[in-house]
Amino acid sequence: MTVTLKTKTEITVPRSIRLKAGIKPGEQVEFSVSGRTTNITPKLSGDEIQDEREIRDPKVRGAIRDGASLRGWRELFPNALVYGADIDRDILFEEERIKTFYCDQLDQGAIQDLWSQPVLEGGVDVIIDDGLHTFEGNTSFLDGSLSHLRPGGIYVIEDILQTTIERWRNALKTIYSKSHPRDEFAFVQVRNSLNHYDNNLLIIRKDA
Ligand SMILES: C[S@@+](CC[C@H](N)C(=O)[O-])C[C@H]1O[C@@H](n2cnc3c(N)ncnc32)[C@H](O)[C@@H]1O
Repeated sequence: MTVTLKTKTEITVPRSIRLKAGIKPGEQVEFSVSGRTTNITPKLSGDEIQDEREIRDPKVRGAIRDGASLRGWRELFPNALVYGADIDRDILFEEERIKTFYCDQLDQGAIQDLWSQPVLEGGVDVIIDDGLHTFEGNTSFLDGSLSHLRPGGIYVIEDILQTTIERWRNALKTIYSKSHPRDEFAFVQVRNSLNHYDNNLLIIRKDA
């Protein structure tokens, strides 16, 4: 949105922008000015400031990226075999109950190659898309992968961008609910004062 300033008129943040940013009446916000840019952010509690600091720490970010979530899933599901896929060949690895493969989720050929791996034959019970967080990346992987989810299985797309919610609503209504009428789709928007950006999930349960 572009606003033209008039002399002697205070700048107000339009309601539509406040709603888009998820700022609610009664919430405290902080202003910081840098050059000609004014940033408005939620005022954080002590604990929230600590969480934010940890996520900005390069060591924590590195650990999150380099297979930490795959190891987390392995710990959470002690009887499961965990398979990962990534476009970055440098971070592929294999260790006890974890195996990773190359896949570009924007490329249907690469997605088919992934699912033709012998260990993935017969499909999987849980699929989590935490890869390229764009509408195109998510829908491309979903289109090439949903048929490999076993009956009763769960498919989760993490960190869906706030700016793509409308596109998702549309796609769910006009495409996916029609192409998969027996599967359940739940779009979940999780309120979080720290994250007005991508704290959204799509959860699909395949018909048993
Ligand atoms: C938020 S990280 C997820 C890391 C993963 N959860 C883990 O712990 O190993 C996003 C990952 O998406 C990968 N990625 C980006 N574009 C991709 C694409 N087109 N296809 C597949 N993976 C992609 C990045 O290389 C990165 O490793």
